[in-house]
Amino acid sequence: MGTQGGRAAGHARVAASILDADAANLGREIRRGERGGADRLHLDVMDGHFVPNISFGPSTVAAIRRVTRLPLDVHLMISEPSRFVEQFLSGGADSVTVHVEVDEPKEPTLRAIRAADRAAGLAVSPQTPIEALDPYRGLVDIVMVMGVNPGFGGQALITECVAKIPRAREFLVDRPLGEVHIDGGVNRDNAELLGAAGVDILVAGSALYRRGRDLGREVRLIRSLADEGWAISHGAPRVPRDRWVPVVVVERERAEPIRAELGAIGIPAIVVASEERPATGRREVLVPAPAESYVRARLPDLMRPPVKAALASGARGQSGIRSR
Ligand code: DX5
Ligand code: ZN
Repeated sequence: MGTQGGRAAGHARVAASILDADAANLGREIRRGERGGADRLHLDVMDGHFVPNISFGPSTVAAIRRVTRLPLDVHLMISEPSRFVEQFLSGGADSVTVHVEVDEPKEPTLRAIRAADRAAGLAVSPQTPIEALDPYRGLVDIVMVMGVNPGFGGQALITECVAKIPRAREFLVDRPLGEVHIDGGVNRDNAELLGAAGVDILVAGSALYRRGRDLGREVRLIRSLADEGWAISHGAPRVPRDRWVPVVVVERERAEPIRAELGAIGIPAIVVASEERPATGRREVLVPAPAESYVRARLPDLMRPPVKAALASGARGQSGIRSR
C-alpha cells in the first residue's frame, strides 16, 4: 500500500471516493489522493436505475487501475451486478461490493469475485437491516454500511446507521480479516463516533475533495480520530491489519500445507525461514496481526496430519484487500 503522505500506525483506513472529484482532471485528483495519504480509492458505479444518478463504468475503473497502485474498492450501485462483475474484475478492482437490495441472486456474483481472488462485499442501504445479510454468511469479506441513501455525495450522515457497525462486525466473526466500511457522510466531525463503533474503513468523498480542502490533513484527521474513538471506548488500540506476526514454527514440509489451509479460510499467510540458532531449516508461518488469536485457537486443527490442503485448492487465498 502507498506510504505517501505518511502512513498511520493505527488501524482505521481512509478510502477516498472520487465521485465528487474534478472529473475533467481525474488523474490529477487521484494523485492528490495518493499524495494526501489516502489508503484506497473508492469507486462509485451508478446506473441511473438502482440509484437516481449515473457515474462511470468498467472502462473508467480500468483506466484508473493503470495510473495508481492504490487498492481499488468498487462499489456497484447497479441493478444487475452479475452482468458486469467480470468486467470490473478484469479491469483491476481489488474488491467489488454489490447491494444486498438488488433483485437478483447475489451468491453467484459473490462467488465470482472470490474466485478471482478479490474481496467480495455486500452493501446495506440505510433502510435495510443487517439481518438481510444472513443468507450470505461465509461468502462476504466486506460489509459496507451506507451512511446515506446511495446516489449522491455531499449528504449528511444518517446517525441511526452507526448502530449497524457493531452488528456488521459480528456478522464477520468467522472472517477475522473481514472489513466493515462506512460509506457516505463521513468527515472529521463524526470519525471518532464511527471509530468507536468499530469501523475499519471510512469512505470519504466531499470531506476530502471539496474545493479548498487540504486533502492530506482531512485524511490524517479522519484516520486518527477513528482510532481515538476506538481507544476511548474500548481501552486498547486496534491492531493494524498490515502487521505480520509469527504463529508457529514447523518442519519445512509442513509449512506450505498450513499456509494453504489458512488461505482456504480467508487468511493470507507468509512462510519464512526460522531464525532458530543453530539453524534448523524449519519454517515460521506469519499471519496478519488481527487474525493472530483466531489462528492460534485453530492451530491444533491446522497442524493435525494428514493436512487437508488438497481441499483448499480453488478456494480464495485472501480476505480483505490485497496489498500492492
Ligand atoms: C454515495 C456514494 C459515496 C459517496 C460518498 O452513494 O456511495 O461513496 O461518494 O460521498 P460523501 O463522503 O460526500 O458522502
Ligand atoms: Zn460508495
